[in-house]
Amino acid sequence: MKAQELREKYLKFFESKGHTIIPSASLVPRETDTSTLFTTAGMHPLVPYLLGEEHPGGKRVASVQKCVRTGDIDDVGDNRHNTFFEMMGNWSFGDYFKKEAIVWSFEFLTGKEWLGLDPKRLYVTTFKGENGIPRDETAIEVWKSVFEKAGMDVAVAGEDEIIKDDIRIIPLGTEDNFWIAGATGPCGGDTEMFYDMRPEEGNLEGKFGELVDSFRIMEIWNNVFMEFNKTADDQYEKLAKPNVDTGMGVERTLTVLAGEYTVFETELFQPLFEKIAEVSGSGYQDSDETKKAFRIVADHIKAGVFMLADGVTPLNVGRGYVLRRIIRRAVRYGKLLGIEKNFTQVIAVVVIEMYQDFYPELEKNKTVIFSELEKEENKFRQTLEKGLKEFNKLSAITAAEAFNLYQSYGFPLEMTEELSKEKGFAVDKEEFAAEFKKHQNLSRTASAGAFKGGLQAAGEMETKYHTATHLLLAALREILGEETYQKGSNITAERLRFDFNYPKKLSPEQLKQVEDLVNQKIQEGLTVELKEMSKDEALKLAKVSFDPAKYGDIVKVYSIGDFSIELCGGPHVQNLIELGHFKIKKEEASSAGVRRIKAVLEK
Ligand code: SER
Repeated sequence: MKAQELREKYLKFFESKGHTIIPSASLVPRETDTSTLFTTAGMHPLVPYLLGEEHPGGKRVASVQKCVRTGDIDDVGDNRHNTFFEMMGNWSFGDYFKKEAIVWSFEFLTGKEWLGLDPKRLYVTTFKGENGIPRDETAIEVWKSVFEKAGMDVAVAGEDEIIKDDIRIIPLGTEDNFWIAGATGPCGGDTEMFYDMRPEEGNLEGKFGELVDSFRIMEIWNNVFMEFNKTADDQYEKLAKPNVDTGMGVERTLTVLAGEYTVFETELFQPLFEKIAEVSGSGYQDSDETKKAFRIVADHIKAGVFMLADGVTPLNVGRGYVLRRIIRRAVRYGKLLGIEKNFTQVIAVVVIEMYQDFYPELEKNKTVIFSELEKEENKFRQTLEKGLKEFNKLSAITAAEAFNLYQSYGFPLEMTEELSKEKGFAVDKEEFAAEFKKHQNLSRTASAGAFKGGLQAAGEMETKYHTATHLLLAALREILGEETYQKGSNITAERLRFDFNYPKKLSPEQLKQVEDLVNQKIQEGLTVELKEMSKDEALKLAKVSFDPAKYGDIVKVYSIGDFSIELCGGPHVQNLIELGHFKIKKEEASSAGVRRIKAVLEK
């Protein structure tokens, strides 16, 4: 089955069940929705209706929605993750509920005139009950009865989550089977449908999570039963009328229908791979590395083309920054495949051809798409040149330097390794991985949750907060006096927290002056310069005193104009404009004579 036929079938099926078909909304969320940078699910544009507003299409609607999720960007390249994907969905706004939703899902999946999938390869999860919300017995009963009608007697898994014999229903906790788009909003328990990808390996047996991880079963559809609205103070308010929100991935469903193991084997990737092979001279199957690079290039350029069609342009902040990052990542991986000339437009032509029937905005905006790709690719190639110059100055390479090349110039480790080989020195892979992990782990713990829905990678946010911390200290010293020093600092992907010596509470005027000064510097768009020098030299130069014993003989000095000059390990942003808007959220006492400021960066 072709993608277009699948989309049409889905919409036709739900039209026959009384749904109004609505077009895909833009990838850019409506202005009042600041919860994520991009539309991350079919339900996203429908949140007001899930909270009770009346939809012009009535109480039942269905759509195929284009989506972008960048939270999993590092997973692109495995079998099933994409940053761009399409989600088919049907919704009930206070109309039908669990029974109809499940019965229809089963009918669409297994009905001969619909997808005709084998019910014997189908497994489902349900909500097992947690946090005061009871186990979903209704979903279990309905599933049992639909399977029974198909002549199958199915059983429910126990706490061990093991599938074997007749077990096809697996109750799982909040982590797996409770759905919410961001931190707050409409939410509820869900039931998810999985398909056995390799029945030739014999009867399915094993722990649910392990079967998913080994790609033996793959999720294709999620039915969320939205009964609550989660408020900012973590309360679950019962909605006046419960809703249904479902999401079925086009790419994954096509994979299952084609009997393939990965989404990349389907017609939504193959034409792109052919073009990439043509321009690179490399083959998809050449090695694990080329496979991964093909997948990343195809996925990222596709996502980029759709973002550009919806009016996003490459920038150093917000949405534009995500676009910039994915285009650059595609170019980098293209380089690994041996592509030295601009190529993103050639791939974009194929993306437009593949998708224009269903998404006419692509053809309509192709001039902008091409010109922005051209500009961005040129810019990045220049940055790469600068990075190469930095690289060429080195006479050996440490893990920290390799990381800095990655952070400041977007050099992936693979590229640094290659270049190092040419120059005859080696990168200590393990050391680099440790350096890298340090940064990543920081971001993972801080970001679980809030960044799930496609905000910028948390590591990047922390880098921004790190630079903002330098600006804050410099501003405090200017407003409160030179004798102000750092007493503590803590950064997460969501905020900075900074402690400093000052004898009394800061007045609202002082806080405003500090905030304004930081924002003024950001607006000036100063660059952050990194120099390495001897500790003695650094001591003379740095504006902020520090404990010299803590540093080695050669130190890094980060300076922002002559506003801030600090000894620091980094990393930092390249240009202050990347920071967006700086806002102080709170000023309070930390201990005697020490004040604490919490501040955030806004778009
Ligand atoms: N909102 C749910 C999801 O994205 C179902 O559409 O999985």
